[in-house]
Amino acid sequence: MAIILKSASQIEKMRNAGAHVAEILQILAAAVKPGIATEELDQMAEAELARRGGVSCFKNYVIQPGVPPYPGVICASVNDEIVHGIPGKRILKEGDIISLDFGASFNGWVGDSGLTVPVGKISPKSQHLIDVTYKAREVGIAQAVPGNYLQDIGRAVQEYVEANGCSVVRHYTGHGVGRTMHEDPLVPNYVAKDMANLVLKAGMVLAIEPMVNAGKAGTRVLSDHWTVVTADKSWSAYFEHTVAITETGPQILTLPR
Ligand code: MF3
Ligand code: CO
Repeated sequence: MAIILKSASQIEKMRNAGAHVAEILQILAAAVKPGIATEELDQMAEAELARRGGVSCFKNYVIQPGVPPYPGVICASVNDEIVHGIPGKRILKEGDIISLDFGASFNGWVGDSGLTVPVGKISPKSQHLIDVTYKAREVGIAQAVPGNYLQDIGRAVQEYVEANGCSVVRHYTGHGVGRTMHEDPLVPNYVAKDMANLVLKAGMVLAIEPMVNAGKAGTRVLSDHWTVVTADKSWSAYFEHTVAITETGPQILTLPR
């Protein structure tokens, strides 16, 4: 498959989609508090998305034949859940951390973003994990410039995360974004020797999304076929932005207006 480059006017359309996604995530993050169920966050996202005229990229997403389609419009992954946590009856409690992931299209263009938020007061160790992951996304985005190798993104993320005592998930990666949520290329958060390397070009739009574990990098999928957890039960954080590579540097498209 080929990488689809975006024109400046297409990038503006993606920025519009990205702004909606970011603003909805902001609403969800502000609603996170002890006592709320993750399905309430999903319902808020679905209502706000409908009000704004967007279409969920997650709801009914088919990951593999035989696996039930994804039931939510957000992923809500708590504590040792890394990504793809299904929203449900689980009640958040003080000290938890929750990763919220949200992707939607507006006028045919997708924004994909996510973040990890504390539930009430959290431990210094959890805060460290969140801070390291947030910064890891920043150092990754800084490498998203024309002429760099794709691997420069993963290398920067991996080096930063490991220097700060955490580990980077290998089994899931970022991806190209455009008219659909998943385009080429895969965007690993580590130096992936087995993956084709390529030179970044202006017009590429990438979802950069480090998933960082406080313990080891290993993952496991729960019997619901979706929820990805850490193999060692350590906690995990995640931050994602949709980023356009331009001649003047990286532009984050998933920012609130
Ligand atoms: N941000 C995730 C991704 O990049 C979201 C996928 S969730 C799914 O793949 F439900 F759509 F699968
Ligand atoms: Co994504």
